Amino acid sequence: MNVAIQSGSIQTVDADAIVVNLFEGVTEPGGATGAVDKALNGAIRDLIANGDIRGKLNETAILYPRGAIPASRVIVVGLGSEEEFDLDSVRQAAAAAARKARDAGARTLASIVHGGGRGGLALTDAAQSVVEGTILGLYRYDAPGVIPREGFDRDVDSLTLVEFDTSRLPEVEAGANVGQAVAEGICLARDLANGPANEVTPTMLAETAQRIAADYGMTCQVLDREQMAELKMGALLSVAQGANEPPKFIVLEHNPTQSDAPPFVLVGKGITFDSGGISIKPSKRMEEMRGDMSGAAAVLGTMQTIGAIGLSKRVVAIVPATENMPSGTATHPGDIVTAMNGVTIEVINTDAEGRLILADALAYAQQYNPAVVVDVATLTGAVVVALGHYMTGVYATDDSLWETIHAAGHAAGEPMWRMPLYPAYDRQLKTSFADVKNVGGRPAGSVTATRFLAKFVGDHPWAHMDIAGTNWWENLITHPKKPYYVRGNTGVGVGTLVGALRAWDAVDVKE
Ligand code: BES
Ligand code: MN
Ligand code: ZN
Repeated sequence: MNVAIQSGSIQTVDADAIVVNLFEGVTEPGGATGAVDKALNGAIRDLIANGDIRGKLNETAILYPRGAIPASRVIVVGLGSEEEFDLDSVRQAAAAAARKARDAGARTLASIVHGGGRGGLALTDAAQSVVEGTILGLYRYDAPGVIPREGFDRDVDSLTLVEFDTSRLPEVEAGANVGQAVAEGICLARDLANGPANEVTPTMLAETAQRIAADYGMTCQVLDREQMAELKMGALLSVAQGANEPPKFIVLEHNPTQSDAPPFVLVGKGITFDSGGISIKPSKRMEEMRGDMSGAAAVLGTMQTIGAIGLSKRVVAIVPATENMPSGTATHPGDIVTAMNGVTIEVINTDAEGRLILADALAYAQQYNPAVVVDVATLTGAVVVALGHYMTGVYATDDSLWETIHAAGHAAGEPMWRMPLYPAYDRQLKTSFADVKNVGGRPAGSVTATRFLAKFVGDHPWAHMDIAGTNWWENLITHPKKPYYVRGNTGVGVGTLVGALRAWDAVDVKE
């Protein structure tokens, strides 16, 4: 989508639809909404007086000015109550308005920056959220080669953010640029995770990483099965050995100043299809396991975004990518394998494969002497039992890293909940046959999975994000009601990681 900024009054802008807003309970709108209302001779006050719109979050009403102003349509979107108002209200309202405009047939959209005035948000952040909400709300998965579905002919081509105060245009522009980069990173993640496993293979993930490297001057290294064997990545290879599809170990590095400073390392689980292996899953909803590379998708989306924004510090993304398949060459339950750090693992359940591929990726990360490592993974069904689909479970060894992730998640509309990384749970991973076994039983399944990962993590701040409950969205009461989600992958993680990386990037390291 083409995103532009413009100074002036929204009621003078020529577009297929202009968007203004309304807080709940307001009967005499001021600001831009008031100005449009005056130009329309009180039409918005009429909508309010007649109860057509009350300002509830994401509520919309549409007006046809019939020549009173240059725009063909006016969309009024509710922002909810002022007490509950935050950046995610802006993101949601922008999405709701954009969908209303699209469904009405508008192709060009102009909007004020919700929350920049009366809402009291920083204008830059508010502009970022408007752009994110608009692009994400209009997202649709376009399967390559598939006959266009009904409604797909309707699309919005451009969004113009209109700011009255010319001196504040630079803030709007800065926010809009970041918002577009974040939203496009999220759309990349969604496309990768929605895509079928016969298209989104480890090879395709590697090609995506190479494309990002070429676009933004990063370096990309892709290891094949033989190179993984040379590095003794026995845990990752034990998952890959059942698959015919070639596994890839992808390392994508952003380092604009060629610095050797300790990098921020991202690790993403890249299981392009999780059948469970010999410990095969039930067939019901197994198709959703094409999204078991959502962690990898989030990490690649994040890298694309930081490339587009031009982050100054060094970031390394590591994506272990393979299918998990049953076959004559697949790992048997009971097999003992050795990860690259020498830890031996008894594979009790081949469906607990995510922790096996992450084991070697986390061990590999240590060679960078990382400042921070954050991994993102659809790791456990148990985190869905614990938190459902509203919040991502986060484990952190470091309080300030947790605070950073929590704050970034809140701003991004990706709520994070801290889980206990408590060493006593290690007992559940004990076995007499190896250093550790790969499952810890039903109790605290999400905790024991993380305790397993901890065996491969070096002495640096580390956080693990289990997105198994938040990566996939559908319109159910168990899922958040957000107009910037459509059925399928959410792209969760990108917004949070980009926020956390920007916060880390802004800190000057002066020793
Ligand atoms: N990819 C799954 C976890 C998952 C479940 C993601 C549901 C998204 C939705 C993971 O590899 C897995 O199979 N985990 C097992 C672990 C068990 C065997 C200890 C699980 O959660 O059942
Ligand atoms: Mn599994
Ligand atoms: Zn899995």
